[in-house]
Amino acid sequence: MKETITITDVALRDGLQNQPFNVPTHVKVRMARMLFEAGLQSLEAASFVSPKAVPQMGDAEEVIRALKGCGRVSGLAPNVRGLERALSANIQEVAVVMSATDTMNRKNLNMSLEETLKASEEVLRVARANGVDTRAYVAVAFECPFEGLTPSERVFDLCDALLEAGAQEVVIADTIGAAAPGQVSSLLSGLKGRVPQDMLAVHFHDTRGMGVANAWAALEAGVRRFDSSVGGIGGCPFAPGAAGNLATEDLVLMAEQSGFSTGVDLAKLLGVLDYAEEQLGRTLGGNSSRWLRQQKARLGSDPVRGLTP
Ligand code: COA
Ligand code: ZN
Repeated sequence: MKETITITDVALRDGLQNQPFNVPTHVKVRMARMLFEAGLQSLEAASFVSPKAVPQMGDAEEVIRALKGCGRVSGLAPNVRGLERALSANIQEVAVVMSATDTMNRKNLNMSLEETLKASEEVLRVARANGVDTRAYVAVAFECPFEGLTPSERVFDLCDALLEAGAQEVVIADTIGAAAPGQVSSLLSGLKGRVPQDMLAVHFHDTRGMGVANAWAALEAGVRRFDSSVGGIGGCPFAPGAAGNLATEDLVLMAEQSGFSTGVDLAKLLGVLDYAEEQLGRTLGGNSSRWLRQQKARLGSDPVRGLTP
Protein backbone atom coordinates (compact mmCIF):
# COMPACT_ATOMS: atom_id res chain seq x y z
CA MET A 1 0.00 0.00 0.00
CA LYS A 2 1.35 3.39 -0.97
CA GLU A 3 1.48 6.08 1.67
CA THR A 4 -0.83 9.00 0.96
CA ILE A 5 -0.05 12.69 1.08
CA THR A 6 -2.71 15.41 1.20
CA ILE A 7 -2.31 18.50 -0.92
CA THR A 8 -4.11 21.80 -0.46
CA ASP A 9 -3.96 23.78 -3.68
CA VAL A 10 -3.71 27.46 -2.79
CA ALA A 11 -3.64 28.92 -6.32
CA LEU A 12 -7.02 30.58 -5.95
CA ARG A 13 -5.88 32.48 -2.85
CA ASP A 14 -2.08 32.77 -2.80
CA GLY A 15 -2.03 32.81 -6.61
CA LEU A 16 -4.86 35.14 -7.52
CA GLN A 17 -4.39 37.64 -4.67
CA ASN A 18 -1.57 39.41 -6.48
CA GLN A 19 -2.59 39.36 -10.13
CA PRO A 20 -2.54 42.76 -11.86
CA PHE A 21 -6.30 42.45 -12.45
CA ASN A 22 -9.30 40.91 -10.70
CA VAL A 23 -9.96 37.42 -12.00
CA PRO A 24 -13.74 37.09 -12.53
CA THR A 25 -15.59 35.00 -9.94
CA HIS A 26 -16.86 32.50 -12.53
CA VAL A 27 -13.28 31.83 -13.64
CA LYS A 28 -12.19 31.16 -10.04
CA VAL A 29 -15.13 28.80 -9.55
CA ARG A 30 -14.41 26.96 -12.79
CA MET A 31 -10.75 26.61 -11.87
CA ALA A 32 -11.67 25.27 -8.42
CA ARG A 33 -14.04 22.71 -9.93
CA MET A 34 -11.33 21.61 -12.37
CA LEU A 35 -8.86 21.20 -9.49
CA PHE A 36 -11.30 18.97 -7.59
CA GLU A 37 -11.95 17.08 -10.82
CA ALA A 38 -8.18 16.53 -11.13
CA GLY A 39 -8.20 14.85 -7.70
CA LEU A 40 -7.18 17.64 -5.32
CA GLN A 41 -8.86 17.04 -1.96
CA SER A 42 -8.51 20.48 -0.51
CA LEU A 43 -8.41 24.06 -1.80
CA GLU A 44 -7.75 27.42 -0.23
CA ALA A 45 -9.99 29.52 -2.40
CA ALA A 46 -10.50 32.97 -0.90
CA SER A 47 -9.40 35.60 1.61
CA PHE A 48 -11.78 37.46 3.90
CA VAL A 49 -9.53 40.49 4.20
CA SER A 50 -10.10 44.15 3.51
CA PRO A 51 -11.02 44.59 -0.17
CA LYS A 52 -9.09 47.86 0.00
CA ALA A 53 -5.92 45.93 0.92
CA VAL A 54 -6.49 43.05 -1.54
CA PRO A 55 -9.17 43.90 -4.13
CA GLN A 56 -8.57 40.60 -5.94
CA MET A 57 -10.20 38.76 -3.02
CA GLY A 58 -13.28 41.02 -2.84
CA ASP A 59 -15.58 38.22 -4.05
CA ALA A 60 -14.66 35.80 -1.24
CA GLU A 61 -18.25 35.11 -0.14
CA GLU A 62 -19.43 34.41 -3.68
CA VAL A 63 -16.54 32.03 -4.36
CA ILE A 64 -17.08 30.09 -1.13
CA ARG A 65 -20.85 29.87 -1.65
CA ALA A 66 -20.43 28.68 -5.22
CA LEU A 67 -18.14 25.86 -4.10
CA LYS A 68 -20.43 24.51 -1.40
CA GLY A 69 -20.46 20.72 -1.53
CA CYS A 70 -17.57 20.43 -4.01
CA GLY A 71 -14.94 19.35 -1.44
CA ARG A 72 -12.83 20.79 1.37
CA VAL A 73 -12.63 24.55 0.83
CA SER A 74 -10.83 26.96 3.08
CA GLY A 75 -10.57 30.75 3.27
CA LEU A 76 -8.21 33.11 5.04
CA ALA A 77 -9.71 35.12 7.91
CA PRO A 78 -7.14 37.18 9.83
CA ASN A 79 -9.62 38.94 12.12
CA VAL A 80 -13.09 38.40 13.56
CA ARG A 81 -14.59 40.68 10.91
CA GLY A 82 -13.17 38.29 8.30
CA LEU A 83 -14.44 35.27 10.21
CA GLU A 84 -17.95 36.74 10.40
CA ARG A 85 -17.93 37.18 6.63
CA ALA A 86 -16.68 33.60 6.22
CA LEU A 87 -19.40 32.27 8.56
CA SER A 88 -22.06 34.15 6.60
CA ALA A 89 -20.90 32.25 3.52
CA ASN A 90 -21.18 28.93 5.41
CA ILE A 91 -17.49 28.22 5.20
CA GLN A 92 -16.13 24.82 6.17
CA GLU A 93 -12.62 25.86 7.16
CA VAL A 94 -10.78 29.11 7.90
CA ALA A 95 -7.09 29.92 8.15
CA VAL A 96 -5.32 32.57 10.21
CA VAL A 97 -1.97 34.07 9.20
CA MET A 98 0.47 34.58 12.04
CA SER A 99 3.83 35.86 10.87
CA ALA A 100 6.80 34.95 13.04
CA THR A 101 8.23 38.48 13.02
CA ASP A 102 6.83 41.76 14.26
CA THR A 103 7.57 43.72 11.06
CA MET A 104 5.95 41.17 8.76
CA ASN A 105 2.74 41.27 10.84
CA ARG A 106 2.72 45.06 10.65
CA LYS A 107 3.26 45.09 6.87
CA ASN A 108 0.71 42.36 6.20
CA LEU A 109 -2.03 43.06 8.72
CA ASN A 110 -1.15 46.42 10.28
CA MET A 111 -0.82 44.76 13.69
CA SER A 112 2.12 43.98 15.96
CA LEU A 113 3.10 40.35 16.56
CA GLU A 114 1.26 40.37 19.90
CA GLU A 115 -1.85 41.93 18.38
CA THR A 116 -1.84 39.44 15.51
CA LEU A 117 -1.52 36.54 17.93
CA LYS A 118 -4.45 37.83 19.95
CA ALA A 119 -6.57 38.30 16.82
CA SER A 120 -5.59 34.85 15.50
CA GLU A 121 -6.41 33.16 18.79
CA GLU A 122 -9.79 34.84 18.83
CA VAL A 123 -10.57 33.77 15.26
CA LEU A 124 -9.54 30.19 16.05
CA ARG A 125 -11.67 30.03 19.19
CA VAL A 126 -14.77 31.55 17.60
CA ALA A 127 -14.38 29.40 14.49
CA ARG A 128 -14.20 26.21 16.54
CA ALA A 129 -17.15 27.30 18.66
CA ASN A 130 -19.10 27.62 15.39
CA GLY A 131 -18.05 24.17 14.19
CA VAL A 132 -15.69 25.51 11.54
CA ASP A 133 -12.36 23.73 10.91
CA THR A 134 -9.17 25.72 11.36
CA ARG A 135 -5.68 26.08 9.94
CA ALA A 136 -3.02 28.41 11.27
CA TYR A 137 -0.16 29.62 9.13
CA VAL A 138 3.12 30.45 10.77
CA ALA A 139 4.38 32.73 8.01
CA VAL A 140 8.01 33.75 7.38
CA ALA A 141 8.93 30.70 9.48
CA PHE A 142 12.46 30.54 8.05
CA GLU A 143 13.31 34.06 6.94
CA CYS A 144 11.56 37.42 6.94
CA PRO A 145 12.13 39.98 4.17
CA PHE A 146 12.42 42.69 6.84
CA GLU A 147 14.08 41.02 9.83
CA GLY A 148 16.26 38.31 8.26
CA LEU A 149 16.55 34.77 9.64
CA THR A 150 13.68 33.76 11.92
CA PRO A 151 14.62 32.28 15.31
CA SER A 152 13.25 28.72 15.50
CA GLU A 153 12.18 29.21 19.12
CA ARG A 154 9.74 31.90 17.96
CA VAL A 155 8.16 29.42 15.54
CA PHE A 156 7.91 26.77 18.26
CA ASP A 157 6.23 29.18 20.70
CA LEU A 158 3.73 30.33 18.07
CA CYS A 159 2.87 26.73 17.17
CA ASP A 160 2.18 26.00 20.85
CA ALA A 161 -0.05 29.06 21.19
CA LEU A 162 -1.99 28.42 17.97
CA LEU A 163 -2.63 24.76 18.85
CA GLU A 164 -3.73 25.80 22.32
CA ALA A 165 -6.20 28.27 20.76
CA GLY A 166 -7.76 25.55 18.60
CA ALA A 167 -5.78 25.28 15.37
CA GLN A 168 -6.42 21.85 13.86
CA GLU A 169 -3.57 22.22 11.39
CA VAL A 170 -0.40 24.29 11.74
CA VAL A 171 1.13 25.31 8.42
CA ILE A 172 4.83 26.12 8.46
CA ALA A 173 5.18 28.65 5.65
CA ASP A 174 8.29 29.74 3.82
CA THR A 175 6.47 32.84 2.60
CA ILE A 176 9.34 34.25 0.53
CA GLY A 177 10.87 30.95 -0.57
CA ALA A 178 14.14 31.45 1.28
CA ALA A 179 14.62 28.07 2.97
CA ALA A 180 17.00 25.27 1.96
CA PRO A 181 16.36 21.58 2.72
CA GLY A 182 18.81 21.52 5.64
CA GLN A 183 16.90 24.33 7.34
CA VAL A 184 13.60 22.56 6.69
CA SER A 185 14.91 19.34 8.28
CA SER A 186 16.24 21.22 11.25
CA LEU A 187 13.05 23.23 11.94
CA LEU A 188 10.81 20.20 11.47
CA SER A 189 12.92 18.06 13.79
CA GLY A 190 12.49 20.77 16.42
CA LEU A 191 8.71 20.55 15.94
CA LYS A 192 8.62 16.81 16.62
CA GLY A 193 6.63 16.17 19.76
CA ARG A 194 5.14 19.69 19.66
CA VAL A 195 2.85 19.41 16.65
CA PRO A 196 1.27 15.99 15.98
CA GLN A 197 2.21 14.72 12.51
CA ASP A 198 -1.38 14.68 11.26
CA MET A 199 -1.79 18.34 12.26
CA LEU A 200 1.35 19.60 10.55
CA ALA A 201 1.55 21.01 7.02
CA VAL A 202 4.19 22.88 5.04
CA HIS A 203 3.84 25.70 2.52
CA PHE A 204 6.79 26.43 0.25
CA HIS A 205 7.57 29.02 -2.38
CA ASP A 206 10.01 28.31 -5.18
CA THR A 207 11.91 31.63 -5.29
CA ARG A 208 15.35 29.99 -5.12
CA GLY A 209 14.40 26.82 -6.98
CA MET A 210 14.39 24.75 -3.79
CA GLY A 211 10.66 24.12 -3.46
CA VAL A 212 10.74 20.46 -4.44
CA ALA A 213 13.91 19.78 -2.47
CA ASN A 214 12.27 21.37 0.58
CA ALA A 215 9.15 19.27 0.08
CA TRP A 216 11.33 16.16 -0.01
CA ALA A 217 13.04 17.22 3.22
CA ALA A 218 9.58 17.62 4.77
CA LEU A 219 8.48 14.19 3.50
CA GLU A 220 11.58 12.67 5.05
CA ALA A 221 10.76 14.43 8.30
CA GLY A 222 7.35 12.72 8.31
CA VAL A 223 5.15 15.57 7.00
CA ARG A 224 2.24 14.33 4.90
CA ARG A 225 0.30 17.54 4.32
CA PHE A 226 1.44 20.07 1.75
CA ASP A 227 0.32 23.34 0.24
CA SER A 228 1.14 24.03 -3.39
CA SER A 229 -0.28 25.95 -6.29
CA VAL A 230 -1.11 24.74 -9.78
CA GLY A 231 1.31 26.37 -12.21
CA GLY A 232 3.26 27.79 -9.26
CA ILE A 233 1.14 30.96 -9.22
CA GLY A 234 1.44 32.75 -5.92
CA GLY A 235 3.14 35.17 -3.60
CA CYS A 236 2.20 37.56 -0.83
CA PRO A 237 1.82 41.13 -2.11
CA PHE A 238 3.17 42.47 1.21
CA ALA A 239 6.36 40.35 1.31
CA PRO A 240 8.96 41.82 -1.05
CA GLY A 241 10.85 39.18 -3.04
CA ALA A 242 8.20 36.48 -2.71
CA ALA A 243 7.94 34.49 -5.93
CA GLY A 244 5.51 31.76 -6.90
CA ASN A 245 4.53 28.80 -4.77
CA LEU A 246 5.89 25.32 -5.12
CA ALA A 247 3.93 24.14 -8.18
CA THR A 248 1.37 21.40 -7.55
CA GLU A 249 2.52 19.52 -10.66
CA ASP A 250 6.13 19.49 -9.37
CA LEU A 251 5.03 18.25 -5.95
CA VAL A 252 2.73 15.58 -7.40
CA LEU A 253 5.38 14.30 -9.81
CA MET A 254 8.07 14.17 -7.13
CA ALA A 255 5.79 12.44 -4.62
CA GLU A 256 4.27 9.93 -7.06
CA GLN A 257 7.65 9.04 -8.58
CA SER A 258 8.98 8.56 -5.05
CA GLY A 259 6.23 6.05 -4.26
CA PHE A 260 3.61 8.22 -2.52
CA SER A 261 0.00 8.50 -3.57
CA THR A 262 -1.46 12.00 -4.06
CA GLY A 263 -4.79 11.13 -5.68
CA VAL A 264 -4.03 13.75 -8.35
CA ASP A 265 -4.40 12.98 -12.05
CA LEU A 266 -1.51 14.81 -13.72
CA ALA A 267 -3.11 14.87 -17.18
CA LYS A 268 -6.17 16.62 -15.74
CA LEU A 269 -3.97 18.94 -13.68
CA LEU A 270 -2.24 20.00 -16.90
CA GLY A 271 -5.72 20.84 -18.19
CA VAL A 272 -6.17 23.22 -15.22
CA LEU A 273 -2.78 24.72 -16.01
CA ASP A 274 -3.84 25.34 -19.63
CA TYR A 275 -7.02 27.02 -18.43
CA ALA A 276 -5.14 29.20 -15.89
CA GLU A 277 -2.67 30.29 -18.58
CA GLU A 278 -5.49 31.18 -20.93
CA GLN A 279 -7.25 33.22 -18.24
CA LEU A 280 -4.19 34.97 -16.84
CA GLY A 281 -2.76 35.58 -20.31
CA ARG A 282 0.74 34.40 -19.58
CA THR A 283 2.90 31.30 -19.39
CA LEU A 284 2.75 29.55 -16.03
CA GLY A 285 4.05 26.27 -14.77
CA GLY A 286 6.50 24.70 -12.40
CA ASN A 287 9.85 23.20 -13.32
CA SER A 288 8.33 19.94 -14.53
CA SER A 289 5.42 21.28 -16.58
CA ARG A 290 7.25 21.39 -19.93
CA TRP A 291 8.37 17.81 -19.58
CA LEU A 292 4.95 16.73 -18.32
CA ARG A 293 3.26 18.33 -21.32
CA GLN A 294 5.61 16.49 -23.68
CA GLN A 295 4.83 13.25 -21.87
CA LYS A 296 1.11 13.94 -22.08
CA ALA A 297 1.41 14.56 -25.83
CA ARG A 298 3.29 11.28 -26.17
CA LEU A 299 1.40 9.06 -23.71
CA GLY A 300 -2.04 10.67 -23.47
CA SER A 301 -4.06 10.40 -20.30
CA ASP A 302 -1.34 8.91 -18.10
CA PRO A 303 1.80 11.01 -18.55
CA VAL A 304 3.68 9.27 -15.74
CA ARG A 305 2.95 5.73 -16.91
CA GLY A 306 5.88 3.49 -16.22
CA LEU A 307 7.67 5.88 -13.88
CA THR A 308 6.75 3.98 -10.74
CA PRO A 309 6.80 0.24 -10.14
N1 COA B 1 -12.90 42.10 5.66
C1 COA B 1 -13.38 43.23 5.08
N2 COA B 1 -13.12 44.46 5.52
C2 COA B 1 -12.36 44.55 6.62
C3 COA B 1 -11.85 43.43 7.29
C4 COA B 1 -12.13 42.16 6.77
N3 COA B 1 -11.67 41.05 7.33
N4 COA B 1 -11.15 43.84 8.35
C5 COA B 1 -11.21 45.19 8.35
N5 COA B 1 -11.95 45.61 7.33
C6 COA B 1 -12.28 46.98 6.93
C7 COA B 1 -12.75 47.84 8.05
O1 COA B 1 -14.13 47.69 8.20
C8 COA B 1 -12.37 49.20 7.56
O2 COA B 1 -13.27 49.64 6.55
P1 COA B 1 -13.59 51.19 6.31
O3 COA B 1 -12.29 51.83 5.90
O4 COA B 1 -14.60 51.16 5.23
O5 COA B 1 -14.09 51.69 7.63
C9 COA B 1 -11.04 48.97 6.87
O6 COA B 1 -11.07 47.59 6.46
C10 COA B 1 -9.86 49.21 7.76
O7 COA B 1 -10.04 48.50 8.96
P2 COA B 1 -9.00 48.51 10.16
O8 COA B 1 -9.55 47.68 11.28
O9 COA B 1 -8.60 49.93 10.49
O10 COA B 1 -7.84 47.72 9.55
P3 COA B 1 -6.45 48.15 8.93
O11 COA B 1 -6.57 49.26 7.97
O12 COA B 1 -5.50 48.27 10.04
O13 COA B 1 -6.13 46.80 8.09
C11 COA B 1 -6.51 44.45 7.72
C12 COA B 1 -6.11 45.53 8.70
C13 COA B 1 -6.19 43.11 8.34
C14 COA B 1 -7.98 44.57 7.47
C15 COA B 1 -5.73 44.67 6.40
O14 COA B 1 -4.39 44.88 6.71
C16 COA B 1 -5.86 43.51 5.46
O15 COA B 1 -6.92 43.18 5.00
N6 COA B 1 -4.74 42.87 5.10
C17 COA B 1 -4.75 41.78 4.17
C18 COA B 1 -3.45 41.07 4.17
C19 COA B 1 -3.42 39.94 3.19
O16 COA B 1 -4.41 39.51 2.65
N7 COA B 1 -2.21 39.45 2.95
C20 COA B 1 -1.98 38.39 2.02
C21 COA B 1 -2.26 37.06 2.57
S1 COA B 1 -1.14 36.55 3.83
ZN1 ZN C 1 2.33 31.60 0.30
